[in-house]
Amino acid sequence: MSFLEDYTGAARAAGRPWVWSTGMTDWARDPELWPGFLEFVPPNSRVWCAGIATGEEVITLAARTPESVSIIATDIRPDALEACEAGKYPKAMVDAAIADGDFTQEDARRAFLPSRASDAWLQVTPAILERITWARGDLIRDLYPEVELIFCRNTLHMIPAEDRASVVRRLAHTRTPVIIGKSDFQHMHQYWAEEFQLVPSLILS
Ligand SMILES: C[S@@+](CC[C@H](N)C(=O)[O-])C[C@H]1O[C@@H](n2cnc3c(N)ncnc32)[C@H](O)[C@@H]1O
Repeated sequence: MSFLEDYTGAARAAGRPWVWSTGMTDWARDPELWPGFLEFVPPNSRVWCAGIATGEEVITLAARTPESVSIIATDIRPDALEACEAGKYPKAMVDAAIADGDFTQEDARRAFLPSRASDAWLQVTPAILERITWARGDLIRDLYPEVELIFCRNTLHMIPAEDRASVVRRLAHTRTPVIIGKSDFQHMHQYWAEEFQLVPSLILS
């Protein structure tokens, strides 16, 4: 039994969705937590990544989940979505993540088309891009999709203070587990604590 099952069992007993705060943004950040995330992404499931910025987390998720998993990736900024849809990432940044041991060679092989040593950019494979629906989505006003897991990391602090509690309430009303980021948890602890069963973070990076 994984540590996550311990906490999610407590959430089930309390009749509440769980929320789990993790660390910073990057390719496969918090590498030791990914096996835990993936327990909640079985074949044919749907995941919603809300507030995706430059999309590294979305591509990591797609590379690590079965081909039958579909991902809805939303952000309020159309320019962010356009860049993500193009699926081009600086090779130097991917290489740095691999050197750090977060993103693996296997992740890169799944996520990107083969490249030459001299290439400055890597291109995400069409197979990965086809599994991702990129869409403009405002967490304050728009409908939330029905999914099995939500990633909404390091986004709440960008939402006006007066709207944060209502966004957390709307997330809780989906009855879906949510993975949040360190910034969401640190500054808005009370909102999450009111609506969710909190899964303590193991990583405070
Ligand atoms: C700091 S980034 C977080 C990116 C990613 N989730 C991560 O943890 O690395 C926050 C993102 O939230 C988006 N955002 C801000 N307000 C939003 C809103 N009301 N609805 C949806 N996305 C929003 C921003 O455009 C930005 O891309």
